[in-house]
Amino acid sequence: MVRGMATFPPVSPELLQRYDVPAPRYTSYPTAPSWNTEIGPAEYAAALKRAATRPDAPLSLYVHIPFCSERCGFCACNVVITRSREKADKYLGIVAREMDAVQEHLGARKTVSQIHWGGGTPTFLDERQIETLWNAITRRFTLAPGAEVAIEVDPVVTTRGQIDLLRKLGFNRMSLGVQDLDPTVQQAIDRVQSVEETRATLEHARALGFSGINFDLIYGLPFQTRETWARTLAQVLEMRPDRLAVYSFAHVPDVRPNQRRLPINGIPQGAEKLALFRMAWEAFMNAGYQQIGMDHFAAPTDELAQAQSRRALGRNFQGYTVQSANEVVAFGTSAISDIGGIYAQNPHSLPHYQDAVAAGNLAVDRGIRLSEDDVLRRGIISQLMCNFYVDLSAVPGLDAEFARLADLEKEGFLTLRGRTIELTPLGRIFVRNVATVFDAHLPQQAPRFSRAV
Ligand SMILES: C[S@@+](CC[C@H](N)C(=O)[O-])C[C@H]1O[C@@H](n2cnc3c(N)ncnc32)[C@H](O)[C@@H]1O
Repeated sequence: MVRGMATFPPVSPELLQRYDVPAPRYTSYPTAPSWNTEIGPAEYAAALKRAATRPDAPLSLYVHIPFCSERCGFCACNVVITRSREKADKYLGIVAREMDAVQEHLGARKTVSQIHWGGGTPTFLDERQIETLWNAITRRFTLAPGAEVAIEVDPVVTTRGQIDLLRKLGFNRMSLGVQDLDPTVQQAIDRVQSVEETRATLEHARALGFSGINFDLIYGLPFQTRETWARTLAQVLEMRPDRLAVYSFAHVPDVRPNQRRLPINGIPQGAEKLALFRMAWEAFMNAGYQQIGMDHFAAPTDELAQAQSRRALGRNFQGYTVQSANEVVAFGTSAISDIGGIYAQNPHSLPHYQDAVAAGNLAVDRGIRLSEDDVLRRGIISQLMCNFYVDLSAVPGLDAEFARLADLEKEGFLTLRGRTIELTPLGRIFVRNVATVFDAHLPQQAPRFSRAV
């Protein structure tokens, strides 16, 4: 049998208008606008103590490295622009102190099945600093066999020596910031990165044994047209990364002043922006990738795609994962722990974070305690986001939610069989909108999310 071409489900202008509204990305539930300052160092310490009562359960460990040597024009992340090595040295010393403070409460709970270094740009750290941070972690925590050890890299600033060292230390997953390969787009976003640099980083990492190598791309950037984007997609597919994230450009110049220098008239909007996503979707699906979540794709041989086929894909703050750890302990500025029944976030500000830890305290300044209802809804939303499916046969009630789902079934977003919900290809594009049905906090939140598509 010859398989047909995958075509993007038709989205009428009316449907797009109804559903391309601000909606959370659901990297957490409850989402950040519901967090508050009631969670501080004392609550975090108590949560760590609760977590310590399960000494054998593996943890996921995140370290945030906020530094970048330059500010890219598109970037909406929490970063510190500097060229100072000393700043990073000081930061690494503070992160190690934070690990000590956390371990005081975690006690014998030391096994980690996932490590993730995110940023900023983790490869802002030079080789000596990479080893320092690695040693700080492995002196305090024990790596489980088969652990997933991942890092985000910017190919422009990452050397072969750094990649060799990372692999030698035990890193085995890598995510490359690519965004777009067209020179005009790259100039507009102040992120000039040749195809050769990207290819060389990918091929070197792959030759050393890194797997699950991901490219981050963004659609909706200034001066992206269907022609330029088609070329970028073809070049990306020629390199065949194992995973692809295709993010909707979050244009938030009010909160990110660096975005104010973008050429506003060149930014694709509405149907034109959706057309760019459609092109990526069709290119990746027809090249054999599987859709993992709304804007992520993985090769069928990749562990994420295989887990999704078994409806066993999971997700945490670091992204999609097959690792069993369901609690995250996180270090550094803005880092979010998900442990002992709470979300706990460190301050965004580098001085606030450093001062708190230097004074011998935990630095957490906001978060939320999850109720039983939150935990139930978080599980449902996670199933929808990861596996496009959830079976609620064992969950009573939710009558109002099922009534709303019946409406979404009429829109063609999902199929209801008894109390199982399965998203259609169209519903997978609008999965954030479907997830909002189960979000009990949304009605009380002031809208401040990016658009759903
Ligand atoms: C912290 S960065 C990755 C590491 C590294 N600094 C780099 O730029 O290659 C994480 C990712 O967030 C995404 N990102 C950043 N700003 C964004 C925005 N305004 N809209 C959508 N995605 C964005 C990019 O795809 C980027 O690769």
